[in-house]
Amino acid sequence: MVRLPFIAGNWKMNKTVEEALELAKQMKVSLAKVDSVEVAVAPPFTALFTVRRELEGSRIGLAAQNLFWEDKGAFTGEISPAMLKEVGCHYVIIGHSERRQYFGETDETVNRRIKAAFKHGLKVIFCIGETLKEREEGKTFSVVERQVEGGLKGLKAEEVRPMVLAYEPVWAIGTGKTATPEQAEEVHRFIRNKLGRLYSQEMAGEIRIQYGGSVTPENIKGLMAQEDIDGALVGGASLQAEIFSKIVRFREI
Ligand code: PGA
Repeated sequence: MVRLPFIAGNWKMNKTVEEALELAKQMKVSLAKVDSVEVAVAPPFTALFTVRRELEGSRIGLAAQNLFWEDKGAFTGEISPAMLKEVGCHYVIIGHSERRQYFGETDETVNRRIKAAFKHGLKVIFCIGETLKEREEGKTFSVVERQVEGGLKGLKAEEVRPMVLAYEPVWAIGTGKTATPEQAEEVHRFIRNKLGRLYSQEMAGEIRIQYGGSVTPENIKGLMAQEDIDGALVGGASLQAEIFSKIVRFREI
């Protein structure tokens, strides 16, 4: 099964509209000749519209960093799936560990968001990963398994098939401490096998699983060489076009 590598940049709470526009312009240039890799960027909500307009005609996709599951109504501060569709989002990141850690996201709310995204035709980048404490206590696999089961609860195969999963060990996010390719591969393989048991081997073989956590131009090649690592969700290193484009062009390193 050949899975098209998928590299996405998560800008988190960085970049004003003006700064985001500048970064999008630079990325359009530095990534113009890239093929055989799917690329997307996830600016903050306020910059989505502007970035989308700038990226029109390029092969760089647009992702949001979160959504709320209701269609509309009295939910102050939230953004609906239809609003994201309207500004041109293709993807939405759901269940990022920062949402789980700081904003009370649970497997159940992740599940509701995933269902809402599917209903509105947004592809999901579904994030999972253990904390340092959980890893040290030997709970990595049980935590990841619980997150996969909880996040996908009640979802049919056709809803899961277009999804992308992102394994992001919390201890590796923004810390400069990447998982070794072998450590990451071990968990990626576990996740793929789990998807195989929940759905089918055939489907599990098609789903892309990104790695996230301190990905840089220095470590991307080793990660991508692993059989079950199909791309990366990049935080800090996606905030500069030159560095991000090196990661996207990992084959040339
Ligand atoms: P990082 O973030 O690359 O800055 O570690 C990754 C992420 O949170 O998606």
